[in-house]
Amino acid sequence: MGNMIKVYRSKARSGLTDADIDALLRASRRNNQAVGIGGMLLFGRGCFVQLIEGAGPAVERTYRRILSDPRHVDAMLLYDGSGEPRRFPGWSMGFARLECFAHLPCVARFLQHVEEADAGEFGADAALAMLLEFRRAESDLEAALAS
Ligand SMILES: Cc1cc2nc3c(=O)[nH]c(=O)nc-3n(C[C@H](O)[C@H](O)[C@H](O)COP(=O)(O)O)c2cc1C
Repeated sequence: MGNMIKVYRSKARSGLTDADIDALLRASRRNNQAVGIGGMLLFGRGCFVQLIEGAGPAVERTYRRILSDPRHVDAMLLYDGSGEPRRFPGWSMGFARLECFAHLPCVARFLQHVEEADAGEFGADAALAMLLEFRRAESDLEAALAS
């Protein structure tokens, strides 16, 4: 069946703190490592964009759990593919705050889209391209954290 990739976006519950996000990330990395899945989570202006990938059944189970999490709402699936190579091999769950990367054109477009809500369609291709921008920077970070 091969690798399954899902990308979705959602809105954080208002009042979500940095400590909440830290706890969420710790649990995600622990759980994902245990079942051999992973990906990348982006957070900016109250929105999440996440890519999760790995064996289909584990990704499906995790995605269902994520959807029912009260820490976010209005999840919208942007991309659902299978049989493709892993985009973030070895990453239990990368993380970046988009406000810190607003100098990247793809991030600036996303933040503007979130702000105006009607600034054109921010679809699967744009979301995937934005996620992939973070692969190198975050893998350096993960290596640093792991050492
Ligand atoms: C934006 C967002 C992303 C999440 N990503 C993951 C994830 O990649 N893996 C995971 O196991 N849980 C993820 N969660 C958390 C799950 O919804 C759920 O709380 C968690 O899996 C429960 O694990 P626990 O029983 O070990 O605490 C995410 C939650 C949110 C709000």
